[in-house]
Amino acid sequence: MHHIGHDTKTFKNLEAAFAGESMANRKYLYFAKLARQLGNEEIARLFEETAHQETGHAFSHLELMYPTSELTVEKILEIAIEGELYETNTMYPDFERTAREEGQPGAVEEFQEQGAESAEHAKIFEQAAKRFKALTLVEAFHARKYQQALEHVNAESESGAA
Ligand SMILES: [Fe+2]
Ligand SMILES: [Fe+2]
Repeated sequence: MHHIGHDTKTFKNLEAAFAGESMANRKYLYFAKLARQLGNEEIARLFEETAHQETGHAFSHLELMYPTSELTVEKILEIAIEGELYETNTMYPDFERTAREEGQPGAVEEFQEQGAESAEHAKIFEQAAKRFKALTLVEAFHARKYQQALEHVNAESESGAA
């Protein structure tokens, strides 16, 4: 797949389009719930069906932004950690300050709670990344041992044949 540099306008546009489609998905699922509460099952289903299509649209954008061929488990964990840390260290503290200035206690509380949850998510991903790294080292060690054993066996069978 053709590489799209993260510093290009197209990447930024894909990011914005991805955000829009993702938002539409969650919004329509929420509207479906509302429509059902308001007693309109047909409209609820329409919102749900459309929401599923929006998920497809969002995934298409992601596939262009983060192609499988360019990624590893380490890299996707890194991207996730970066996002969660941005939320917990920058985005939610800024939003919380503004909500406080504007006298919105409900929003202050929500931004605090979700900022803390982002920190928790970052921690969980960091632990997973560490476990993955340790596992990769152990696997490399075993692969090396196996290779050495194989070379030993080959050398012996060669000297036996001579
Ligand atoms: Fe869409
Ligand atoms: Fe999160």
